[in-house]
Amino acid sequence: MLKSIRKQFPILDSKNTRGQKLAYLDNASTTQKPKVVLRAISDFYQNFCANTHRGVYQLAENATQIFETSREIVQKFINARYREEIIFTSGTTESINLLAQAWGEENINQNDEIILTEMEHHSNLVPWQILAQKKGARLLFIPITADGQLDMAVYEKMLSSKTKLVALTHLSNVLGTINDINFIVKKAKKFGATTFVDAAQSVAHLALDVQKINCDFLAFSAHKMYGPFGLGVLYGKREILEKMSPYQYGGEMIREVNKEKSSWNNLPYKFEAGTQNIAGAVGLAMAIGFLRRIGFAKISKHERSLSHYAMKKLSKNKNITIYGPSTRGAVIAFTHDFIHPHDLSAILDAKQNVATRSGHHCAMPLAKKIGVEATCRVSFGIYNTKEEIDRLMKGILSAEKIFNK
Ligand SMILES: Cc1ncc(COP(=O)(O)O)c(C=O)c1O
Repeated sequence: MLKSIRKQFPILDSKNTRGQKLAYLDNASTTQKPKVVLRAISDFYQNFCANTHRGVYQLAENATQIFETSREIVQKFINARYREEIIFTSGTTESINLLAQAWGEENINQNDEIILTEMEHHSNLVPWQILAQKKGARLLFIPITADGQLDMAVYEKMLSSKTKLVALTHLSNVLGTINDINFIVKKAKKFGATTFVDAAQSVAHLALDVQKINCDFLAFSAHKMYGPFGLGVLYGKREILEKMSPYQYGGEMIREVNKEKSSWNNLPYKFEAGTQNIAGAVGLAMAIGFLRRIGFAKISKHERSLSHYAMKKLSKNKNITIYGPSTRGAVIAFTHDFIHPHDLSAILDAKQNVATRSGHHCAMPLAKKIGVEATCRVSFGIYNTKEEIDRLMKGILSAEKIFNK
C-alpha cells in the first residue's frame, strides 16, 4: 500500500548529490502532489482550457461543467448541505480575509468580542486584529495549558452575550494539538456567536463534516492536501452567505451593472470575482479523489503510527524538548539544547536529505507563549515512512557531532 502510494509521487525518488533520497517531512507547509493531480491539471490545460460561465461554445461549456463538478466534489468531501456554500478562493488566507472583510465589516461593532486562541497561525489572527482595531472590538485568546491543549474552563468563562465570533484552528501547525471543535462550536452557539474553523492543517488528515461540526464557516487550502497551489475553499452556511455583501468586485460576481449602480450575482458567484483558478479546482477534485481512495481511517492510522514512532525516538534524546500534547496530529515541533533550529534543519538537509522546517511557523504569539524564538518542525503525510524518521534521528546525531558537546 505505502509502496504504491509513494509511486504516485515521483519527487520522493529524487536524490541529492550524496545519492540520498528525499525524506520530505515538511507536509504542514505544503504536501507533494501525486501524478493523478499533476496529470489532471495538465490535461485540463491541454484539452479543456476555456474560461468558465462565459462562452456558449462547447469548450467553454465543458470547462464550466468541469469547474462546477469540482465544486460538487468539494461539497461532498466536507458534507456541505448545498453547493452554493462552497466558495473558491486562493487559499485559507484569502478565505479568512474574505470573512473578516465581508462578514466582519457588517457584523462586528464596538465592544463586541472575538474569541481566538493562543495557537493561531497569523492568517487567523491578523485579519481579526485589523477588524477589531477598526471597529473598536476586543480580541480574547483561549490560553493553552502546559501540555499544549486549549484551556476549556477559561473558554467557557470567556463566552458572553458580547461574543460575536469564535474563530480557531482545528489542528495546530506547531503543537499538533487537535482541538475539540464540536464542543467549542456547541458552546459558542449557546451565546449566539458565529463560528469559524481553520481547517488548513486538518483537511488532509481528518475527515471533515461541516454539518456535524455545525460551524458557520470553515476554510482550507488545496496545497496542504496533495492539491495545487493557489486554490482554497471557504465554506459558509448559505443563510449567512446570502446576507453578506461581496468581498471583491468585478466580472462574474454581478447580476446587472449600470453606470452608477450594480446588483450582485447568486451564491457562490457573488464571492468569486474575476477569472477563477479553474485548473486548480480540477486539481483539488483529483486530490480529494486520491484521499478518498485511501480513506481517512488508513490515513489516520498510518500518520498516528509515524507520530508515535517519532515522538518515542525524539524523546529518547535528552537534549530535545518536544512541545505540545502526547496525543496529536502529524506535527511535532521541538528544540535542541545546544543546536539552533535553523542549524539543525540545514544539517538535516545536508547530511540526510531530510526536509524539515524551522522558525516561528507563522505563529509568533505561540512561540512567545512557549518561550522560544524558533522550533524545528517535522510533519508527516501519507507517503512518509519510519525509515525516514530513522534518518531524521541520524541527522540529529550528526548535528550533535558537529556542535561537539
Ligand atoms: C493553521 C493554518 N492556518 C492557515 C494557514 C495559511 O494557509 P495558506 O498559506 O495556504 O493560506 C496555515 C499555513 O501554514 C496554517 O498552518
